[in-house]
Amino acid sequence: MIERENEITNAKEITGNSQQFDLTLRPKTLNEYVGQLDIKKNLEVGMKAAQKRGEPVEHIMLYGPPGLGKTTLANIVAREMGVNIKTTSGPAIEKQGDLASILSNLEENDILFIDEIHRIKTQIEEILYSAMEDYALDIVIGKGPATRSMRIDLPKFTLIGATTKAGSLSSPLRDRFGHIYKLDFYTDEEIQAILKRSAIILNVKINDDAVGEIARCSRKTPRIANRLLKRVRDFAEVGDIDVIDLELTKKSLHTIGVDVIGLDRTDRRILLTIIEKFNGGPVGINTIAAATAEETETIEDLYEPYLMQVGFLDRTSRGRIVTPNAYAHLKIEYIQKQDNLFH
Ligand SMILES: Nc1ncnc2c1ncn2[C@@H]1O[C@H](COP(=O)(O)OP(=O)(O)O)[C@@H](O)[C@H]1O
Ligand SMILES: [Mg+2]
Repeated sequence: MIERENEITNAKEITGNSQQFDLTLRPKTLNEYVGQLDIKKNLEVGMKAAQKRGEPVEHIMLYGPPGLGKTTLANIVAREMGVNIKTTSGPAIEKQGDLASILSNLEENDILFIDEIHRIKTQIEEILYSAMEDYALDIVIGKGPATRSMRIDLPKFTLIGATTKAGSLSSPLRDRFGHIYKLDFYTDEEIQAILKRSAIILNVKINDDAVGEIARCSRKTPRIANRLLKRVRDFAEVGDIDVIDLELTKKSLHTIGVDVIGLDRTDRRILLTIIEKFNGGPVGINTIAAATAEETETIEDLYEPYLMQVGFLDRTSRGRIVTPNAYAHLKIEYIQKQDNLFH
């Protein structure tokens, strides 16, 4: 529950610690933004070309698992273009009128950032089509025979959409983005670079091998890397330790339930549930959710991508399957199943 926990805290205490922590560590320029080289290169070209033409950047869609830097990137684009960014999210837009009012309050070249854009309701989403394509708002007034439709011009703006689920985006919406980028998990070296930068900002002294250890356990995700660094820093402070070393890091991570490759208690519980209750799978995602008392969406967005990335979980048409590698990691004997022998 690493991610959700934080989101809830953030929402509740806007001025609280974890929000501030996220804000200070968030890179502000493309230069500071580590990794995602292809995306950065393409965005740079897109931004320069737009600036030359004196136009806003084409609409940008960013997708990928939570914590990889979508929100950060959206804010960087605004800053690099020298324009305002207005932020909202799919679930926050309840009525067509909400979106209409956000759009009509934009100023020329502004960026509108819609997080979780896949969760916008269909009728509301339709407003976006003409807004994105023609910078116009088509609204229907009145009912029955008196119905009229009206077109209102909007300023030229850039929509940046972020989603963890590119698959649940409708194609009319997807087609209206000029840039579509998938954020990838980070390499070990990239996460180490992010951690070293964070350590400097937070004024934390940490050895290289401790950085390596946190990176290895961070699920290749910057947000988690920063969070683990913060937790280890807590242990250093409590123990009056000046420089964070490998030993302290290992002990701290172990204490908070993060294992040697960064799986937390929930990851292990998901794998163990599939192994113990469903004989390793295949089993449907909803059944796994019910058996682990997690939400389907949380498993799909937060846990599954990394478990698949490390090769512990396979997604098949018949459901999820735990792989022999996961058995080995959990030190559980893998018994080849009868029906698997014939594939
Ligand atoms: N490329 C990056 N370089 C450095 N730090 C990053 C990078 N991407 C993300 N981060 C850090 O991770 C945190 C989470 O990133 P965020 O943009 O909120 O992810 P997302 O919106 O994809 O869930 C940020 O606050 C930032 O500190
Ligand atoms: Mg985000």
